[in-house]
Amino acid sequence: MHFLTLDELSIDDIYEVLHQAEALKKHKPLPRPDLYAVNLFFENSTRTKCSFEMAQRKLGMNVLSFDAGTASISKGESLYDTVKTLEAIGVDVAVIRHSEERYFDALKDKVSTSLINGGDGMGHHPSQCMLDLLTIYQEFGGFKGLNVTIAGDIRHSRVARSNTYALKRLGANVSFSGPVAWRDPEMEEISFIEMDQAVQESDVVMLLRVQHERHAFGENFTKEAYHNQYGLTVEREKKMKKNSIIMHPAPVNRGVEIADVLVECDRSRIFKQMKNGVITRMAMLQYVLAKREETKHELIN
Ligand code: CP
Repeated sequence: MHFLTLDELSIDDIYEVLHQAEALKKHKPLPRPDLYAVNLFFENSTRTKCSFEMAQRKLGMNVLSFDAGTASISKGESLYDTVKTLEAIGVDVAVIRHSEERYFDALKDKVSTSLINGGDGMGHHPSQCMLDLLTIYQEFGGFKGLNVTIAGDIRHSRVARSNTYALKRLGANVSFSGPVAWRDPEMEEISFIEMDQAVQESDVVMLLRVQHERHAFGENFTKEAYHNQYGLTVEREKKMKKNSIIMHPAPVNRGVEIADVLVECDRSRIFKQMKNGVITRMAMLQYVLAKREETKHELIN
């Protein structure tokens, strides 16, 4: 049993994970010292890597250290052989972030270690999506009819892809905002609106980081020009609806997609999202481990 994209979960499964994450705020789970986890990050990360490790430790699991820079992958070992090695030495769960989209397709049917996708290139980011859903759910109690604008570097963002499809399945109205050059031809059905309209209509303004590592930002805009035309400026924030919130998966380019002072303003849920990341990832791990144990039980009987 793996957790690779949100498309693989039913609506009931999504709510199950959200409710479990909420329950973890009140009830400490029994420790699982019999279980081993490893986090394989081949792209940089602060939030996802650290909060998965925090989640694993809070669940009482053993966490193996793994440094992509010194691992045998740098001697030419494939990702497949790396994961097969970890399976052979007894790893139960591996969280993987990799630059290749759908890297997990070559692994998922061939390893008994459960895989959790920590981000695949411009593909999917299911744990970010789940923690974003939890943050919205806590705020509004549901998703149906909510107006959510996802703004910025849509084309290069795995967060945009995961959140758009999940939010639409849950009944939210999703719009995009941002430069024409960064529209995603695979998501043309989503309407595009100007940021000035987005701030007035949206319950959630979800800003995206400009993905400097995936394209040459400076060729298209100066930071100031981008901020003024497409960003959440101080002036635009004043026009937001009374109870609307600001979200951002972070890391944040302060002063580019969002004004520096707005990152920690009353409407901002940016650090709450990070806090929710731990309980969400604990719930995701428990979900995967429960399914894994069910499968083992079925095989024995
Ligand atoms: N939001 C997110 O994925 O952050 P990191 O790249 O720091 O993990």
